[in-house]
Amino acid sequence: MHQKLLTLSYAFFLILTPVSGHSQSPPSAAIATAHPLATKVGEQILGAGGNAFDAAIAISSALAVVEPYSSGLGGGGFFLLQNKDGDNVMLDARETAPAKSSRDMYLDKEGKVNTSLSMEGPLSAGIPGLPAALVYMAKHFGRLPLSVTLAPSIKYAQDGFEVTERYRRWAQFRLKLLQRYPSTAQIFLHQNQVPPVGWVIKQHQLARTLEKIAKTEGHSFYQGDTAKQMVDAVRDAGGIWQLSDLKNYQLKVREPVTGNYNGIKVTTAAPPSSGGIVLMSMLNILSGYDLDKTEPAQKKHLVVEAMRRAYRDRAIYMGDPDFVQIPTSRLLSKEYTDRLRSSIESTIATPSNTLPGIKTKDSSHHTTHFSILDKSGNRVAATLTINYPFGSGLVAGDSGVLLNDEMDDFSAKPGEPNAYGLIGAEANAIAANKRPLSSMTPTFLETDDRVAILGTPGGSRIITMVLLAALDFKAGNKPDSWVSLSRYHHQYLPDIIFYEPDAISEDEAKTLGAMGHELKKLQSPYGDNQARYGNMQAIMWDKKENKVYAASDPRGEGSASVIK
Ligand code: GLY
Repeated sequence: MHQKLLTLSYAFFLILTPVSGHSQSPPSAAIATAHPLATKVGEQILGAGGNAFDAAIAISSALAVVEPYSSGLGGGGFFLLQNKDGDNVMLDARETAPAKSSRDMYLDKEGKVNTSLSMEGPLSAGIPGLPAALVYMAKHFGRLPLSVTLAPSIKYAQDGFEVTERYRRWAQFRLKLLQRYPSTAQIFLHQNQVPPVGWVIKQHQLARTLEKIAKTEGHSFYQGDTAKQMVDAVRDAGGIWQLSDLKNYQLKVREPVTGNYNGIKVTTAAPPSSGGIVLMSMLNILSGYDLDKTEPAQKKHLVVEAMRRAYRDRAIYMGDPDFVQIPTSRLLSKEYTDRLRSSIESTIATPSNTLPGIKTKDSSHHTTHFSILDKSGNRVAATLTINYPFGSGLVAGDSGVLLNDEMDDFSAKPGEPNAYGLIGAEANAIAANKRPLSSMTPTFLETDDRVAILGTPGGSRIITMVLLAALDFKAGNKPDSWVSLSRYHHQYLPDIIFYEPDAISEDEAKTLGAMGHELKKLQSPYGDNQARYGNMQAIMWDKKENKVYAASDPRGEGSASVIK
């Protein structure tokens, strides 16, 4: 499959410079995922002699079955991989726009964006990348065949998994959409309603699709039976997919974004995710302050000002690097960072409308993340998605594959002056075969003594969650602290600090308000516990203590495991 690209990319992995010359191996392996069944599958695969990459294949496919609202074979994502010798690479399994896509495909007669087309049903679905990544990892990095690594997910699909409160919440959130397509309702609903907790969801067609992927090394999905089933279902529902879209899908192997923050080596997502550049830009700005010695409200002011500036650049410059030239070196240069930092007033908020730019979209709050460390020191941080909960809502016929709605991550209406009369978002305009801009930020942090593997779902808030965790890592804290930290977020526009109920105290809110910040405490009709966001999965190997730690975000229902 895609032989030329695979050959090129394999060579690329081999020539990457090691991050460090460490030879020490961790005393334990560790896994943190958003679902206990996925963590269990990872443990089984490591126990069967698989490495971190085999476990990543098994966990990705298990999550595709048991967390159908987050990620799946019908979606995509980014895998940040590092082998035991320190070579790292990012697999870009992002979805692509079908060849028949066009820049204005979601605009109505009045030129307004029709979000029901970009977020629901067949037109919202990009060409999936996840199966290509699983096949690639098995071929180049794994030790076990796909028949072994996909076996647990095939069993979960056949035997079923139990509905949880979390499943119910997301199914309720998109109930009308799930009811729209009989192929979807018969799998994910019970009598056309949200199933009760404990109800068993079986996915026999998906099991067959997974079996075929294992047997044909992905050929069935991109060029065979499954491809035909998916294209027929999309076309019948009014979509624009063609067999050639699937045949031409290319997994991309990218060099991760790297940088240094106060002695911490950061390895993170490359475009088409904006995550790595935005994270590094915020850290570069903040490296000019001694945050440990800054009082809390002042520290939050500086962090928010860094967020504001980096998200502004996201909105202006970032898109698929195969279509637009992103000025990464300039954005991460010392000269540019110094300029951004010197524009920050120590006690006054900079109104976003005084910084030329364009509106940043507040993208979906869904997606999934998992982290793995094996006993040889191989690492995986993977953030995977079908975008909104349950994606497009369309199960593509007999394939059993629930399709993404990643097309909504494009700018549906670029070139239009925004509220400030500024034109932008061209970099992320829709074009045939282009990848939509993402915020997913799988990340490694490393000092001589400590290694962190982390990431989270959460749409445009992903990057600020990873930033807060990185600052907490710098402060010497461990994964249980990073995943449970109270979170706050600013993304340039809207010009508001959003915060979890206990992230900013009343006194701090007053101080920040007096500086000119607008603040919005997140609220939920279901109580404070639901006014929270993210689902971080994190691992840390402390080389000095010779100990491995893992933690799963208490906001979710995932599990973390340290395996002796
Ligand atoms: N669909 C969410 C993201 O890619 O950032």
